[in-house]
Amino acid sequence: MRRLRVAAAAALACATAAAAVPAAQDGLYTAEQAARGEALYDEQCASCHGPIRAIVPEVAALLGDHTFRNTWRGRPLGELFGFIRETMPQDAPETLTPAQTADLVAYILSGNRLAAGETPLPDDPEQLPHVLFER
Ligand code: HEC
Repeated sequence: MRRLRVAAAAALACATAAAAVPAAQDGLYTAEQAARGEALYDEQCASCHGPIRAIVPEVAALLGDHTFRNTWRGRPLGELFGFIRETMPQDAPETLTPAQTADLVAYILSGNRLAAGETPLPDDPEQLPHVLFER
């Protein structure tokens, strides 16, 4: 019974959170973060993923194309942060610091044509309530 109530409360919390979650938008990261992210990407990610905006069919999932956007539509930025932190680079997972992960997410946002702003993207997934792309 208790478990049921907890589940109901969690479902309610989710519904409330979903209603309040703003979609990804311009100004979520700074240009400095994206520049650091670009350097890191070239060093640690491009070997498998290719250039962020290029059309290179034979590489791993591209991070700036429509397939990427379709995969991540409606999903929170914190999930992308966690995914990168825990599973990438695929040949050395869990080696990125939170700050490096935030820089990479910033670069991926810029690669998906969301503009930089004044406030840095937080390096804590709990503080990333935004949905990556609108549904
Ligand atoms: C050794 C090869 C390799 C390296 C290096 C690598 N990746 Fe990946 N990555 C993959 C493969 C393969 C997939 C697709 C498989 C999967 O989804 O688990 C993937 C998937 C992803 C995805 C999900 C893509 C989607 O469309 O959902 C993201 C985000 C990502 N990688 C980010 C990165 C970042 C950031 C780096 C650099 C820190 C990186 N990867 C380095 C091989 C790699």
